[in-house]
Amino acid sequence: MKLGWRNTEKTYGKVTIAFHWTIVLLILVQFLLAVISEDLSPAYRGPMMTLHKSLGIFTLLIASLRILWWLFDTKVLRLSTTPVWQARLARLVHLLLRIIVIIIPLSGWYFVSAYRGAIDVFGLFAIPPITQINPDFGRAMKGLHILSFWIFAGLLSLHIGAALFHHFIVKDNTLKRMLVITIPHQLPRRKKATNSLKVIDFPKKFKK
Ligand code: HEM
Ligand code: HEM
Repeated sequence: MKLGWRNTEKTYGKVTIAFHWTIVLLILVQFLLAVISEDLSPAYRGPMMTLHKSLGIFTLLIASLRILWWLFDTKVLRLSTTPVWQARLARLVHLLLRIIVIIIPLSGWYFVSAYRGAIDVFGLFAIPPITQINPDFGRAMKGLHILSFWIFAGLLSLHIGAALFHHFIVKDNTLKRMLVITIPHQLPRRKKATNSLKVIDFPKKFKK
């Protein structure tokens, strides 16, 4: 089965999958930059934090576009292996994740604006401040930046835990349908893989 650009009721489309994994990668890199640079000398910390902030503004853009896309895209249905309460919880966690990846970079932008003003993006151009200099407000936004990140980390643990639970315990296609694997998930899988390099047997009508 070929993946389309848009979701269908059964599969995530290429755009949703691309948004999902791009955001995962961006957040991972920003987390590492912030944490690793903490103990470095200013000569290294400066450029690393510039990269952190620049990628952060880029993440804000991508996360906003993702919400727009999600609003107009087809909604993927739950798999029959997922009980209703789990599907409801997953929907809530997905919604909170979508919102919190906006709050994290936005609070970062407010926080840097309130302390220092404009933000240098990749040394190419400057993003104007979104608020006036105000150290008290800056401190509050810095608190929100860090707090929202740790709330996000909690939600993410639940999210990854659920994905792994479905993949290894329930053994359904929840994780596979978010990967770039074009699994024919209504079709029977091979019972025994004799050669791990062989592809799944497609019924003749699916062969090109
Ligand atoms: C999704 C995007 C972002 C993520 C995941 C993220 C995550 C983090 C994390 C984990 C820290 C370390 C907090 C700590 O020291 O415990 C941090 C610090 C920081 N972030 Fe972000 N951030 C993002 C976007 C931004 C943006 C857009 C800006 C500003 C434009 C920004 C500015 C900063 C600054 C200046 C610090 C250092 C705080 C300090 O002085 O300790 N971040 N960020
Ligand atoms: C290694 C990390 C991750 C794994 C293994 C993972 C796995 C998955 C899986 C399997 C689904 C499909 C769930 C279903 O169909 O019910 C999904 C959906 C989703 N994930 Fe993740 N995820 C990860 C990281 C993240 C991160 C960092 C975010 C933060 C924004 C996120 C946000 C979402 C959202 C919002 C959905 C719903 C579909 C959408 O609108 O894109 N995930 N994820």
